[in-house]
Amino acid sequence: MSVAYFNGKFVGSNDPVVPIDERGHQFGDGVYEVIRIYNNKPFMLEEHLDRLYMSAEAIALAFDQSRESFKEIIFQLIERSGLDNLDVYLQITRGLAPRNHLFPDAPVSISMTAKPFRSIPAEFRERGAKAILHPDERWMNCYIKSLNLLPNLLAKQEAHKAGCLEAILHRDGKLTEGTSSNVFVIKDSRIRTTPLSRHILAGITRMAVQRIAQAAAIPFEERHVAIEELYEADEVFITSTTSEVMPIVQVGEKLIGDGQPGQLTRLLQRHFQALTTAVTADA
Ligand SMILES: Cc1ncc(COP(=O)(O)O)c(C=O)c1O
Repeated sequence: MSVAYFNGKFVGSNDPVVPIDERGHQFGDGVYEVIRIYNNKPFMLEEHLDRLYMSAEAIALAFDQSRESFKEIIFQLIERSGLDNLDVYLQITRGLAPRNHLFPDAPVSISMTAKPFRSIPAEFRERGAKAILHPDERWMNCYIKSLNLLPNLLAKQEAHKAGCLEAILHRDGKLTEGTSSNVFVIKDSRIRTTPLSRHILAGITRMAVQRIAQAAAIPFEERHVAIEELYEADEVFITSTTSEVMPIVQVGEKLIGDGQPGQLTRLLQRHFQALTTAVTADA
């Protein structure tokens, strides 16, 4: 069952609990995380929390709750959901205060939801998905997992209108990332992805894929990828917590490789699945 939490109370996921004067609601003044729970155990929880605390600090959000007590709420929420496989959404905002751009002297608001896995049709994972290319119109601090997602939403909607799953964003002729994913190209059995910088989010799934590639001795290069390299790639895939490792078989009108998910992408999908199963297995 879907359940939620807001400022100290467990509530129904559709309960109207957030007052109008809430800064997440009015300004998108906050940060968030999406964590996947497999077999009742959060996957890479510490890495997600590291990023959440980093994002909060980057926007000067006074989120000083101890990690242990914060984790306790997450575990309680998971238990209350009664689900084994679910997505947990966490949001921290600058709190409740009459609308004013200046920071209020108010405690932060914490909200969470726990919902069954957001299902991406299995056929995408198996046969690959399509993407469009779109200019990256976002701000200069995309390493922060901020609630402000308007440019991402607009680009994703363009992708959807074109019958595609994702929009791959580019800045100065080079790829940055997807609207809600990191992007990888494979050429001559080498994986390439945009280096971490303030222009992209340091994806947790990206980190998992990097570890998998290193363990399997697959060359993994963090370097800028030009738009032409995307079109000429043997394989392309995207990663995110909810789409995991997703093959991209067409960008715009151009087929990638032979238009089928490539062998290395398949291998990474299998390794990723094995990793999530292994680290969340019952002790
Ligand atoms: C802009 C952006 N890049 C990358 C990602 C992938 O991050 P993760 O693998 O931590 O889910 C996301 C996830 O939502 C995202 O919004």
